[in-house]
Amino acid sequence: MLDDLLALALFSQVMALGISSSSAQVTPTLGLIGGTVYASPTTPPFRDAVVAVSGGTVAAVGSRSDVQVPHGARTIDYSDRSLTAGFYLPRPWANKLSNEELRMRTQVGIIGAGPAGLFLAHLLGQMRIDCIVLERRSRSHVEGRVRAGVLERGTIETLQALGLDGRLKREGMIDNGLDIRFRGRTIHLNLPNLTGKSVMIYGQQEVVKDLIASRIAAGGPIYFEAQVTSLHGLDGDRAVIRYVDPEHSEELSLECDFIAGCDGYHGVSRFAVPQGAVQFYDHAYDFAWLGVLARARPLADMTYSNSDRGFALCSRRSVEISRLYLQVDLDEAPDAWSDMRFWDELHRRMFDEARTEITEGEIFQRDIANLRCFVITPMQYGRLFLVGDAAHIVPPTGAKGMNLAVADARMLASGLFEFYRQSSGVGLDAYSERCVRRVWRTMRFSARLTELLHKLPSHLPVERELQLAELEYIAGSRAAQTSIAEQYVGLPYEDSCIIFRGG
Ligand code: FAD
Ligand code: PHB
Repeated sequence: MLDDLLALALFSQVMALGISSSSAQVTPTLGLIGGTVYASPTTPPFRDAVVAVSGGTVAAVGSRSDVQVPHGARTIDYSDRSLTAGFYLPRPWANKLSNEELRMRTQVGIIGAGPAGLFLAHLLGQMRIDCIVLERRSRSHVEGRVRAGVLERGTIETLQALGLDGRLKREGMIDNGLDIRFRGRTIHLNLPNLTGKSVMIYGQQEVVKDLIASRIAAGGPIYFEAQVTSLHGLDGDRAVIRYVDPEHSEELSLECDFIAGCDGYHGVSRFAVPQGAVQFYDHAYDFAWLGVLARARPLADMTYSNSDRGFALCSRRSVEISRLYLQVDLDEAPDAWSDMRFWDELHRRMFDEARTEITEGEIFQRDIANLRCFVITPMQYGRLFLVGDAAHIVPPTGAKGMNLAVADARMLASGLFEFYRQSSGVGLDAYSERCVRRVWRTMRFSARLTELLHKLPSHLPVERELQLAELEYIAGSRAAQTSIAEQYVGLPYEDSCIIFRGG
């Protein structure tokens, strides 16, 4: 199992370094003997090869007769193995190596295996750009984290273009309708009628499972339980990521051309940027969402409700599983909500006092999410690029956070493609500006929807009436409904992502 593997990225492009079948200039300290080595996607592999390593980098690669590993150097039998550029070794062997021998090198070091990091890794994989993903949690933890559910059109098309939409097509649910309730009435937004597009419901953790399984099947390095501790050389010639894992007592290093900080709101990346080099915008709402999963038949359409008792949302994960949310106080404990209390409150907030519409069932998962608007600009410092929640948090009301992470990943992948394949830094230079434009537009939508649908503790009576008047206006205006619908299905991308040009 590759999640049990620890990567040893001995080089990025052996051929590019011109070290084919050559003798070592320095005395090798490690030899990998007998494997098949794919040094570059465009040249035939070396079979029964010897890889000689010195000081953590490849000194020579070639046949047994061409490359000698001196007596006394450590050797590892690789006869039943293949190695590709961006080498990795199974953990039992890697564990025996010292930090110096383990020193890894790749083109793009990706911190975090959430949607941002995984989409980026797949896009780069398709562009034949080497990358290594470091994730501090275990694979099962990452795959079990319940979060987003709505995939906008562009996210679906990105999965399709990557060939990763097999299970999405079978298990994802097309969502054509969006209902907004207030004063016991329902505004129904027919997304295809208003925009020609729809969204899909498919849990974030299912997307994450699909992306991890496919990366592992393709042999792409991804290391779980590898916690990044610090970043170095961001404004120098070469960046270095330092990290720890449970198998090694000493800190390990990954050298790279660029670092993609895809480590979410609680990650380390953005703290590596010197104070004063970036600007922060931060607003925390003074309420939270209690989210639950219940074995209960869901409503047919995604239904948001603004009631005098607060906001509620009925979404779904399958024909049998409902994903439901209630606005709650900031300091609320999920366990304070028994099944009975939750269902009572949901019926009332959904204007279903007769309890005829919403089906109840066992609640088997509860979580609390705080809501905030957070943006860091620029989303780049030297060799570090911030991607997804590491750079911005939008309130979940617009269902946009994961979709925005995918848009960032595409933009960065486009820039890196231009850099490596077209020798142009224009895309990377423009990365932050282009992403931030989309971020603020998306933030505007998510914040407006949040303010429209929640009962804010700070509301004056006049503000509450204005909120309801706004909903009345939306109910009677196709233009207003179209505006919401086109933002809900997602704004067009600005990148030139190569996967859509058949690259
Ligand atoms: P994350 O998913 O947070 O991933 C970051 C990864 O980095 C994690 O795996 C973490 O373990 C790892 N990491 C952190 N620090 C380190 C370190 N030091 N070393 C190594 N690894 C590290 N978005 C939508 O698009 N649609 C929705 O319907 C939607 N609904 C939501 C509902 C709720 C209740 C919430 C809370 C969010 C919702 N979102 C939604 C937002 C979405 O879940 C996030 O925006 C998304 O997870 C961001 O992905 P990311 O990869 O940037 O960050
Ligand atoms: C979800 O299904 O989890 C979901 C749906 C809509 C939102 C947020 C989350 O706005």
